[in-house]
Amino acid sequence: MPTHQSLGGGTDEELLDRMIKTHPERFGSAFWELFDAQVASHLPPRPVIIDLGCGPGLLLRDLGERYPGATLYGYDLTPAMLVHGRALPGPGPKPTLTLLDVTTQPLPHAAGTVHLVSMSSVLHIIDEPLPVLAEIRRVLAPGGIFLLNDWIRQSLQSYLAWRQETSGESEAETLRRGFRLFPAHNKYTTEDWQWLLGKAGFAVRDHAQLRPAHRIFVAAPGGAG
Ligand SMILES: C[S@@+](CC[C@H](N)C(=O)[O-])C[C@H]1O[C@@H](n2cnc3c(N)ncnc32)[C@H](O)[C@@H]1O
Repeated sequence: MPTHQSLGGGTDEELLDRMIKTHPERFGSAFWELFDAQVASHLPPRPVIIDLGCGPGLLLRDLGERYPGATLYGYDLTPAMLVHGRALPGPGPKPTLTLLDVTTQPLPHAAGTVHLVSMSSVLHIIDEPLPVLAEIRRVLAPGGIFLLNDWIRQSLQSYLAWRQETSGESEAETLRRGFRLFPAHNKYTTEDWQWLLGKAGFAVRDHAQLRPAHRIFVAAPGGAG
C-alpha cells in the first residue's frame, strides 16, 4: 500500500508523531484566516465535513470546536492514526473515524451530501488521483468546498535545506529521508495542481501559499469536468 512508510518517511508511529508535532504550525492562524475568508461563508451552521487521510484527527477536532453542530468524518488507511484520533479529548462533536483506502474503496456517503472535504498532504501520495477526485466531487453538495492542501515542487537544494531547518533531523537523516521523499513531495507544481483540479471538474476559487513547501486550494464542483 502506498503509505508514507513505503515512500521512505519512517514508520507509522514516526509519521503520527510528526503530524502531531507539526499540526499547530500547519493549521495555525494563517490557515484559519484563509478558512474564514474563503470557506466559512459556504458552510451551513451544521455542516457535514470529511477529512480524507485524516491522520491523527487534529484538524477534525479543531473544526468540531468551531462547528459544534457539525457531523465529522475522518478516513485513513493507517490504524495508528485512527486510534489516536478516537482518543482525542475535546468539547466538540466526536468524529466518526473509519479505516478506508481511498484508492480502492468508495466514500460511504450519498451523492451531494457533504459540505466540506479536506485533504491535507495526502493526494500527492496517490498514484492515480483522478478517480479519488471524482469520488470527492460525487459526495460534495451543491456549493460544497474541496480544500486541498499539499506539497508543491521546489528545487532539491531548497527542499533539503527546508527539511533540515524544520524537521529537527540530523543532516545525515535529512540526506537519507530527504532523497527518498523528494520525488513524492516534489511531484506537482502549483500549475499542475490547478490543471488536475480542473481536469477533475473542480473550479479553483482561490489558492494561497501559507507555508514554503505547500499550497492550499479552495475548489468547488464546476468547471469542465
Ligand atoms: C502526511 S499524512 C497527513 C495526515 C493529515 N491529513 C494531516 O495533515 O495531519 C498522510 C495521511 O494519509 C494517509 N493515507 C495515505 N494513503 C491513503 C489512502 N490511500 N487512503 C486513505 N488514507 C491514506 C496516511 O495514512 C496518513 O495518515
